[in-house]
Amino acid sequence: MNRLTLRRPDDWHVHLRDGAALAAVVKFTAQRFGRAIVMPNLKPPITTAALARAYRERIVAALPKGARFEPLLTLYLTDSTTPDEIDRARAAGFVHGIKLYPAGATTHSDAGVTDIAKVHGVLARMEELGMPLLVHGETPGPDVDVFDREAHFIDAVLGPLTERFRGLRVVFEHITTAGAVDFITRARAGVAATITPQHLLHNRNAIFAGGIRPHYYCLPVLKRERDREALLRAATSGSPRFFLGTDSAPHERADKENACGCAGMFTAHAAIELYAEAFDSVGHLDRLEAFASHFGADFYGLPRHDDTITLVKEPWTPPQVYEFGDGALVPYRAGESIAWRLAGTEGA
Ligand code: NCD
Ligand code: ZN
Repeated sequence: MNRLTLRRPDDWHVHLRDGAALAAVVKFTAQRFGRAIVMPNLKPPITTAALARAYRERIVAALPKGARFEPLLTLYLTDSTTPDEIDRARAAGFVHGIKLYPAGATTHSDAGVTDIAKVHGVLARMEELGMPLLVHGETPGPDVDVFDREAHFIDAVLGPLTERFRGLRVVFEHITTAGAVDFITRARAGVAATITPQHLLHNRNAIFAGGIRPHYYCLPVLKRERDREALLRAATSGSPRFFLGTDSAPHERADKENACGCAGMFTAHAAIELYAEAFDSVGHLDRLEAFASHFGADFYGLPRHDDTITLVKEPWTPPQVYEFGDGALVPYRAGESIAWRLAGTEGA
C-alpha cells in the first residue's frame, strides 16, 4: 500500500507551549489533526478553568488562517485543586481532562501532586462527572531506577487508584513498557492508554548511539526492544484501549543540547507520518485509522471527524531546524528521511 486515506485523526496528548513557541508549532498539529488534547504544563501551569479559557483563546489566535482545528484543554492537578474547580471545568465545556503529574516527574511538574491521597476528593468529583484523569505514570525521586519508574507507579499508585475509583475514566499517557501494555489490557472498563511515535520506533539504544543524543531524550524515557515490540503489538492490535498521543514536546535547541538537557521530543511536524511508518513496519497500515481517528474520540465521547487526510509513501527530509520564537527547534529526524508524507486533507 503506497497511499492511505484516513478519517482525520486527533492527537490525544500534545504540548503546544505559549507565546512565540506556540505560534511556531501549532500549525504542524493543526495541519494533521482535527483536535488535540493540549497539556497544561506551562509556567505557571493551567490550574483553573479561567486560565484554560485564556490559553484556549491564545491557541486559537495562533492558528493559521482557515485552520479547522479544535484545541481540547486540560487542567493541571495540584495538591490544592478543589472539587469546585472541576465543576467549573466541566461547565466551561472545553476542558476534557485533568492532568496528574506526580511532583518532580517531568518538565514543569514541580507544582504537581505530592501525594495522591491529597486529591481523593477531586478524583471522586471527576468520577461523578465523567471527567477523565490523564496520568503521567511515573514515580519520581532518587530511590526508583529511571527505567523502573512506570512499573513502580502502576503498582504503587495507578492500580490501587483504578480500583478505589471504579467509575473514574483514566488515560495512562505515553506508556513505554510491556508491563504497562499488560496493565491496560487487564484493567477494568474505562481505562485506556496513549502511545507516542518515538516509543513505537525506538528503543533506548537510540539515546546512546555513538554518543549521547539529547534529541532522543524524553520522559518517560525510551525502554528496551521487548517493550517497543509490546507497544507496537498493542497499537496495531485493534484494541480500542490504545490510541494516538504524540507527546510532541518542543524545547529550544540550547535547552536540549545542554549539560542538563530538557526532556521532550518534537514530532508534530511529521506525527501521523511517523505512526504510518511504525504500522507499516509490521504490515498493519489497515489498523492505523482506528488507532489514530476512532478509539480516542470514542473514549472521550466526541464525534469522529467526517473529513479525511491522505498519506503517500514518498520519502522526505525534515530540515535541521525549524524557527522557534527567538531560537531554533530541532525536529525529530532532522536531516534524515521519513518514509510517509502528508499529501493532503479533504474537507467535509
Ligand atoms: C514533556 C514536556 O517537555 O513538557 N516532556 C517529555 O519528555 N515528554 C513533559 C511530559 O509529557 O512528560
Ligand atoms: Zn507530555
